[in-house]
Amino acid sequence: GKGGYDHYMLKEIHGQPTALSNTIEGRIDDGDVALDALSPGTFEDVETVQFVACGTSYHAAMYGAQLLRAADVRTDVLRASEYDSMAGPVDEDTLVVAVTQSGETADTLDALRTGADRGARTLAVTNVVGSTAAREADDAVYIRAGPEVGVAATKTYSSQAVTLALLTQRIAGDVPDATPHGDRAAMLETLADLPQQVETVLETTDAEALAEEFLDSQSYFFIGNGLGHSVALEGALKFKEITYEHAEGFASGQLKHGPLALVTEASPVIAVSTGSDDDKTRTNAIEAQSRGAPIVAVGPDDHPLVDVADAHLSVPETHPVWAGLLANVQLQLLSYHAAKLLDRPIDKPRNLAKSVTVE
Ligand code: M6R
Repeated sequence: GKGGYDHYMLKEIHGQPTALSNTIEGRIDDGDVALDALSPGTFEDVETVQFVACGTSYHAAMYGAQLLRAADVRTDVLRASEYDSMAGPVDEDTLVVAVTQSGETADTLDALRTGADRGARTLAVTNVVGSTAAREADDAVYIRAGPEVGVAATKTYSSQAVTLALLTQRIAGDVPDATPHGDRAAMLETLADLPQQVETVLETTDAEALAEEFLDSQSYFFIGNGLGHSVALEGALKFKEITYEHAEGFASGQLKHGPLALVTEASPVIAVSTGSDDDKTRTNAIEAQSRGAPIVAVGPDDHPLVDVADAHLSVPETHPVWAGLLANVQLQLLSYHAAKLLDRPIDKPRNLAKSVTVE
């Protein structure tokens, strides 16, 4: 059942501290990452990693891909439906990582099979033990989010992003010439605090009031830079999926290359900051603000973006690698409350299915 919540989606948003504790459990070992059957050395022949995924899982894959690139590993992230034409050279030193919570998405399975046919090694990152992706890939890593009923992916996104972050450090530890995250020890240590910090967001959020304040808007633009870009895309997907309002996500610096033409006082710009070096988000938010758009900063308090914003959804201080995931929880709540105020069928949005088993 819904455990006292009005919707499965809200129950699952609130299930994230527990889900994340399970995701992390036993996987950080003495400053290193231990991931199921993937023992140290298992990735030493890998030269290129190609993430393949759809929708929300694609956004989680973007998050992981960026961390792997930061570790100097050749990395691609491809929409699974485009893999066939976009994959580029693939050989036995290529690792194709299918990111799919259900393990049954047809486009993602197709990409996994195409990669395998072209000689790649394959890995499934999934929530479902025994799913098709888990069975067909050479190896599987489970995200341990627990069952998710709402069509909108929430806790599976968070658990995927964390699992992928751990996977990137495992891969970076093996691949010759890779450089694991500069302050990996601090990054892994702060991860232990993430479940509690998500709890803090859930207890202190102002998302409902903000959803109400901006309910009559025409469009909702989500922007972010670096890791914040994937969070912005995910925020916009969730928002349109359950509210049926027009929402788009952009890389902060891209706003002025077209979308700015749509910006008015009726299009709030929701700007994600990760607390890292993402000044592009602040400067481009100011551009939008000068066209009349209200700016909602989503991120840690002590960020210059907060000083210029009209409203702020706050997240606790953490390592920049994890701040985007806390911001995402605020965005989940913003979407949820807007959809609720609009009286949408939150757990079953029109035209969508939980698991998309057709190509
Ligand atoms: O099961 P998968 O992770 O492969 O599903 C992929 C997408 O269909 C899925 O993430 C979808 O975008 C979300 N349910 C949207 O909230």
